[in-house]
Amino acid sequence: ATTELQRHFERTIEHDQRIEPRDWMPEGYRKTMIRQISQHAHSEIIGMQPEGHWITRAPSLRRKAILLAKVQDEAGHGLYLYSAAETLGAERTDLTDRLISGAQKYSSIFNYPALTFADVGVIGWLVDGAAICNQVPLCRSSYGPYARAMIRICKEESFHQRQGFELLLTMMRGTSAQRDMVQEATNRWWWPALMMFGPPDADSPNTAQSMAWKVKRHTNDELRQRFVDMSVPQADALGVTLPDPWLAWNAERGHYDFGELDWAEFKQVLAGNGPCNADRIAHRRAARDNGAWVREAAAAYAAKHAEGQGR
Ligand code: ACO
Repeated sequence: ATTELQRHFERTIEHDQRIEPRDWMPEGYRKTMIRQISQHAHSEIIGMQPEGHWITRAPSLRRKAILLAKVQDEAGHGLYLYSAAETLGAERTDLTDRLISGAQKYSSIFNYPALTFADVGVIGWLVDGAAICNQVPLCRSSYGPYARAMIRICKEESFHQRQGFELLLTMMRGTSAQRDMVQEATNRWWWPALMMFGPPDADSPNTAQSMAWKVKRHTNDELRQRFVDMSVPQADALGVTLPDPWLAWNAERGHYDFGELDWAEFKQVLAGNGPCNADRIAHRRAARDNGAWVREAAAAYAAKHAEGQGR
């Protein structure tokens, strides 16, 4: 019977159809999906912090309203993705505990500080831009609930990217001090944004299997190249310089060449030693602990309600 189920799973993948929660799937596939979806969810939740910091410091009511909406969207994406992980048998509280204990990762990018309001714009432009580049192909990922979640999430991410770019365009039309802020923020975020795509293909232990299962549709290096190619004309339109002396059009390849990433820095950030890792986790831990009474009260209320209904 297992071989019949296995054949069904393989045929579904082969025909580009979706695996659904009730379908049989290999344990390795389930584990991979829980890993990727929960790490993605953690990234959305931790990703609220660098920009959330600026909500009370936004320079105008308009910017504040946009930023509030954006940070709330990130919360929604996180909850949506935790729900997708739950369809695979994962427990949300357990996933949060694993994030806080460091047993599970979240995107390296959110371990860098947002130092000025120009960072809010650059995060929208480059960080959300990289997220879209990575996530649009995931709308065709083989696990149904994840692929469908990505469709909605990508629509909202495009709004995030646009608001960042528009903020930067406004600042670039401002004073020279504002233009310097944009350039300085671009210098700090460019390389970490390229690291969002993960290790080089040769050092990516999960890519081959995830491509075979059509969980991933492109390799880390393919998507990183795509992101570089789309960012260069955007930087030109803004009038900022990307901080890479090796960046140059390669007519033969039909792509931009770019410099080597600092993989030692990437490893340090993944190991918990980035500029903000400790702060991010401490903040998340405090939010979990401070909210415990709300969850207990809600559970007690639900239990009482269920009892009342039983009579
Ligand atoms: N930050 C933190 N961890 C990373 C990063 C990164 N930028 N890139 C790779 N890793 C981790 C992987 O999660 C994996 O960890 P694990 O095996 O211990 O669980 C390990 O490094 C090795 O990497 P890969 O073999 O390349 O892993 P994978 O095939 O999962 O590819 C990738 C990594 C590209 C991030 C993939 O998981 C993915 O596309 N995820 C969905 C998108 C996502 O999570 N985006 C979050 C940031 S965007 C946002 O939230 C706005």
